[in-house]
Amino acid sequence: MEERKYTLKEIISKDEIEKRVKEIAEQITKDYEGKELLIVGMLKGATTFLSDLIFNIKSDKLTIDFISVAKYDSKDDIAEVKVIKDLDQPLEGKNLIIVEDILDTGKVMLYFKERLAVRHPESIKICTFIDIPSRRDKDIVVDYKGYTIDDKFIVGYGIDYNEKHRNLQNISELIFE
Ligand code: IMP
Ligand code: MG
Repeated sequence: MEERKYTLKEIISKDEIEKRVKEIAEQITKDYEGKELLIVGMLKGATTFLSDLIFNIKSDKLTIDFISVAKYDSKDDIAEVKVIKDLDQPLEGKNLIIVEDILDTGKVMLYFKERLAVRHPESIKICTFIDIPSRRDKDIVVDYKGYTIDDKFIVGYGIDYNEKHRNLQNISELIFE
């Protein structure tokens, strides 16, 4: 397949990201003081944000785990989400925060939230680094977020285009020529 040509334009700098992640982590530190906290990252995009986030959360009751899904864009149906890696630990009594790189339609997030909720955790909250509410088609409450942006295709800080650019330290808009 021929790759379309594009350029990258920074929209959120490395320094801004660092500052914002610390603020979110401080809020989580306060909200979960003394509580068992399981941070659940969505592979692969959330790994970068999750690493920075947990380094800044002060807690000795924090654990992490990962989930992975493949989303099929062919239909707009929730059944089109296929689980590749699930959580295999008991969730009873645990406080979960599901961490995403970018919340777009919300399809994947809602699917996982409902799937984990039936295993009776104490609580489930949602944290996304980037929120694009204009593209949302599922009703989702976002508890923690880095930035809200308009309808743009972005990469960097874990977010990819054809698996590339996850290693960019900033968030950039991808502009097709
Ligand atoms: P959704 O919220 O179910 O539509 O899926 C969100 C997922 O789609 C994200 O975790 C990304 O993997 C991918 N995605 C959505 N928007 C973008 C974008 O602007 N750039 C790169 N990936 C995106
Ligand atoms: Mg993703």
